[in-house]
Amino acid sequence: MASSWPLPENDPWSTPFAQLLMHHLELQPGDTVLDIAAGGGVPAFHLAEQVGPNGKVLAVDIHQGQVVRSRSIQGQHMPWLQFEVGDMRVLPPTLPRFNRITGNLSFMFFRPNRFEALKNLVQFLKPGGQIVLTFPSLGTFDSLWVRVDEEMKQRNLLKERGALVEYLEERPSANQAKQWLEELGLERVEVTEWPLEIFTGPGREFLEHPLLRGGFLDDIYECFEDQSLAHEFMEDLSQDVGRFTPLLAQRCAMSGFLPGQK
Ligand SMILES: C[S@@+](CC[C@H](N)C(=O)[O-])C[C@H]1O[C@@H](n2cnc3c(N)ncnc32)[C@H](O)[C@@H]1O
Repeated sequence: MASSWPLPENDPWSTPFAQLLMHHLELQPGDTVLDIAAGGGVPAFHLAEQVGPNGKVLAVDIHQGQVVRSRSIQGQHMPWLQFEVGDMRVLPPTLPRFNRITGNLSFMFFRPNRFEALKNLVQFLKPGGQIVLTFPSLGTFDSLWVRVDEEMKQRNLLKERGALVEYLEERPSANQAKQWLEELGLERVEVTEWPLEIFTGPGREFLEHPLLRGGFLDDIYECFEDQSLAHEFMEDLSQDVGRFTPLLAQRCAMSGFLPGQK
């Protein structure tokens, strides 16, 4: 039967990550799911359709505005799906345990202590339950970072270069994710990376690219104390996209099961 709540076809970022998440997730009708960093409901709506009325999906996001938007999309549909405000790093201990925990484009926001946040979250799995998180892993857009670093070096921007190095070192890697899942005692641990190309032209198209501007380019601006210098730097960089394209993201999924019977 065709899905009434498919993953959105025209989303070049959330959907490819969510496809990888669904590829790893073992889901059955009647399952209970905690979806963290739920945002606009990718993949919460799709998951709710899959578990059906005998299941339950609790979709949590830290931003009230996101929760309100998702509730308005939901309307009266699938009452077993519930959007709530919450911080995935410190969820209340009163929350029940779930068969599945999912988080599309989530793990990079487990800062500042990713291991602690992961450990807290795993506590909400039932024995035999599975956790699947996706995130852009170390290596994402490396061609851009190399070009930015080279330009900063040429302009002798020492402080900005230091801030860039700090940012780059803080990114989560696939290896780290695998090690942590194993350290937490999870079984059948799988961490996979699939490359994903993001297309952009020069100038405004690069600077205002909906995906790049929302996160990655802001991270470059944040390396600068002087924002007018940052703008000038970015304008120049935007004329030079040929030197750092293709832009490749590392689409990473981490999955593991808590020991025990479902
Ligand atoms: C990149 S979006 C992903 C949204 C959705 N899962 C998707 O794939 O489109 C990340 C979401 O994580 C939320 N977020 C960031 N930090 C969070 C936290 N500590 N707890 C819960 N949600 C958080 C943001 O508000 C944002 O909606």
